[in-house]
Amino acid sequence: MSDDLPTTRWEAADNTGFAAYFTGLIESGADVEGEARLADVLLPRGATVLDAGAGFGRIGAALQRWGHRVVAVEKDPDLVAMAGERYPDLPMVRSDILALTPDLLAAAGHPAAYDLVVMVGNVMVLLAPDTERRALTAVHDLLAEGGRVLVGFHAQDAPASSARAYPVEEFAADAEAAGLAVQHRFGSYELAPPAAEYAVLVLTRA
Ligand SMILES: C[S@@+](CC[C@H](N)C(=O)[O-])C[C@H]1O[C@@H](n2cnc3c(N)ncnc32)[C@H](O)[C@@H]1O
Repeated sequence: MSDDLPTTRWEAADNTGFAAYFTGLIESGADVEGEARLADVLLPRGATVLDAGAGFGRIGAALQRWGHRVVAVEKDPDLVAMAGERYPDLPMVRSDILALTPDLLAAAGHPAAYDLVVMVGNVMVLLAPDTERRALTAVHDLLAEGGRVLVGFHAQDAPASSARAYPVEEFAADAEAAGLAVQHRFGSYELAPPAAEYAVLVLTRA
């Protein structure tokens, strides 16, 4: 992976509690697949899915289990290692989202275009500063015909201390600049009405 990519807000902070928190949730039997369920509703059976900023792969692994062809992409080497231990069958590419191209994925033996890019769990507010449009453009360029993007983030008061505030109107302008359009907006993965605190958005090519 290229070393000249900017440091993400995730990398700039101590996030060692994240893996332990989710491990505890999973071991207690808690539901950690809500985002994946909404993603599944957006897809035909056996679709191609890119889980961008996948963490340790909980969402991609659920979608894979339900029959989709999933590729997970994550930059944090500790989370990539954890994904390999927890979900050894989940294809994982260690990369920055900014570096993703159809050619890079195809060269690694993965689809070059995707029916859905999932970018949930606050990835959008933990990118490197001022790279939101670049990340959205990279994702736009990976969409198959009719492909969509599922995004979810705390627009304010995200749990990670390093996360930015990201008003939904500002996000929508960045998405538009990247050639994407907001098709649906909700306030949760259970399709609550739009809210200022949390944004769940489905994007299409503009
Ligand atoms: C709060 S974690 C969520 C992980 C996963 N999406 C989930 O919901 O379980 C945020 C993730 O975004 C990833 N991330 C942030 N910026 C990134 C970038 N530019 N490229 C790849 N991953 C990135 C971080 O490495 C981290 O794994």
